[in-house]
Order: sequence, then structure tokens, then C-alpha cells
Amino acid sequence: MRMLVTGGAGYVGSHTCVALAEAGHEVFAIDNFANSDESALTGVSALVGRRFEWSRADIRDRDAMAKLIAPGAFDVILHLAALKSVPESLKKPELYWDNNVGGMAVLLRAGRAAETSMFVFSSSATVYGAQERVPISESASPAPLNPYACTKLAGERMLSDLVHSQPDFRACILRYFNPVGAHKSGGIGENLKEPASNLFPMAIAACRNQRTVEIYGTDYETPDGSAIRDYVHVMDIAEAHVSAVNFLASDKSRNRGDAWIFNLGTGQGCSVIELIRKIEKVSRRPIITRATGRRKGDIAISVADPSLSEALLGWRARRSLEEACADVLRPDDWRCK
Ligand SMILES: NC(=O)c1ccc[n+]([C@@H]2O[C@H](COP(=O)([O-])OP(=O)(O)OC[C@H]3O[C@@H](n4cnc5c(N)ncnc54)[C@H](O)[C@@H]3O)[C@@H](O)[C@H]2O)c1
Repeated sequence: MRMLVTGGAGYVGSHTCVALAEAGHEVFAIDNFANSDESALTGVSALVGRRFEWSRADIRDRDAMAKLIAPGAFDVILHLAALKSVPESLKKPELYWDNNVGGMAVLLRAGRAAETSMFVFSSSATVYGAQERVPISESASPAPLNPYACTKLAGERMLSDLVHSQPDFRACILRYFNPVGAHKSGGIGENLKEPASNLFPMAIAACRNQRTVEIYGTDYETPDGSAIRDYVHVMDIAEAHVSAVNFLASDKSRNRGDAWIFNLGTGQGCSVIELIRKIEKVSRRPIITRATGRRKGDIAISVADPSLSEALLGWRARRSLEEACADVLRPDDWRCK
């Protein structure tokens, strides 16, 4: 099938392009390089060869999207392009609403005009906010705690409305938990323009540069007091997109009358302190840590119940967290700043 991947130069997007092309699909990626550069796309090209093309484009550009998404051009749109920094979204909410929600509306409009019938949307576990019940299933009521998470939920609702209005339109919402790691070749990875604000790349950078990594909060109600997350290898996340496309193309996805929602996580929690110990073990280097106060908007525990993804998509995370650490810590792959 022919796939349009928005945000294809990004961290998850580049790995997803590889997984889709390796599954035999024709992939066309677009990106405006707001948080990436061409090197990721060069890396994807080197890994997958002729099944991959790309161009620079902004999803908010109505004319460009209408021209690109011509009738019959794509069977599926996989929408990963977004701004994703929680701290930045607290400072510039209008930018996040314009880019993530406004951009998605433009994309959906172009897709509808071209009668593209399948859509996969990258959402986030942040839409759940702090839940009493863990692991979190898709039926939990969303309670986003910051503008970034609100824009993801707004995208989900927009998609849901579109599915209601068009009987032939089918959509999957993938709620990622915490993607980590890199392609095992070292050819692509998390190529950060800004220093990271999430733990895994911060801890990897601290390990590499012998800098201190801050532990935000050691007084949570968790066994070691630090926050617990569900880390999932980025290639497992990438392969979930292949499963989602197969699902949408199959009879199993018919007649729901709404978008399908799936958690992408391992179901296993790992605390900040445990993650740092794992990186130390894999790298055989000590990491210097400093305990500081809780960060605004952070929650104690976020772990997925991935059973629906396993049952309907036939997907489950196969790679370990140690593998994710090793894939990023290869000596020639020190991209994290
Ligand atoms: N990485 C995570 O921790 C995580 C967790 C949950 C959900 N997500 C979601 O997954 C998706 C991919 O995340 P990622 O980690 O790869 O982020 P990323 O920043 O690496 O990739 C996003 C890409 O989208 C591009 N982009 C942003 N705005 C654009 C626009 N207007 N037009 C065209 N391109 C645009 C950026 O340049 C970037 O290359 C995002 O939608 C994000 O919200 C990510």
C-alpha cells in the first residue's frame, strides 16, 4: 500500500518509515524539520532503498497538503508530525494548538477531499493524566494535565468526529507510552535539536558526558520514591504502525463507527532509579544523580495495559529495555546531547 508519513524525519517517524518499508509498503514522508533534519531521512533511505521518498512540507500549509494528497495518491495517512515538549507547551500553548490541532485539521481536510480511507494518529499516554487505576486501559477517562496532552486529546476527538461522519473512513489512535532506544543499525536514532526534557535521553547523555542527571521527585508513592514509566523500544512502536495498517485494511476494523484506540506499552513499569541502574549496567559506566523536587505536570505512575493491542492488532512489545539501552549506547551512536 502507499503510505504518507507526516513527521517522517522525527524520532518515531523515521523508525516507522523503516518498519513500513520493510513490510513492503511504498512510503512517502514529509516533515518541516521543526525538530529534526534531513539526516534522519538520509538514514532511512540508506536502510530501505527505493521504497522511500520524502519532501519538505508543513502540515499547516493548505495548498501544499491539497496538492500532495491528491485523489488516489495514498491508501493510508500516518500522522506523526507534532510538537511534543510538555515544558514548551506550557510556555507556548497557542503554538501547540496551532501546530498540533490546526495542522491536523488541515491534513484531515485534504485527506477527506482525496477520499483517503485510512488514518493512523500518534497520540500519547499523557492524555490519561494521573489515573488511580494502573495499568491503564484504553477505557480510562482522559484527564490531560498540560497543553501538549490537550492537543493530543483534541486530535483524537477530531478524528473520532470524522469517523462518525464518514462510514467508509477508518482510523486508529495509537497512545504511545515512553518510546526509547534506536534502530539496531545505529543508522537512525533520536536526533535531538534541543537538549532533551525526558529521562531516557537525559540519562544517556549524562552517562556519555559524565554529567549529573536530575531525579525529579524521590517522594512519590512508589517502592523507591521515584516516578514509574512504561518504556517501550521505538522499533516495537514503529512495528505497531504496520500492525495498525494491517488491522485497518482488514475486515476486523469495520463497523465500529468510531476510531479505534490502542495503548502502545509493555505493561511493565520501571522507576527512574531502576532505569538509571540499567543504563549503568549496560554501559558499564556510573551515572551521577542528584535528587531534586517534583517537576510540574509529572505524575507518579504511568504504565499501559497493552492487552487490547495484543488481542486486536496482534502486537506486543518484543524488545527489552536493556536492548533499548544497548541500541543507543553503541560507541558510534552518541547522538544524544
Ligand atoms: N517520543 C515520545 O516520547 C512520544 C510519546 C507519545 C507520543 N508521541 C507522539 O509521537 C509523534 C512523534 O513523536 P517523536 O518523538 O518522533 O517527535 P519528533 O519531534 O522527533 O518528531 C516529530 C516530527 O514532526 C515534525 N513536525 C512538527 N510540526 C510539523 C509540521 N507542522 N509540519 C510538518 N512536520 C512537523 C518535526 O520536525 C519532527 O520531525 C508525535 O505526534 C508525538 O506527539 C511521542
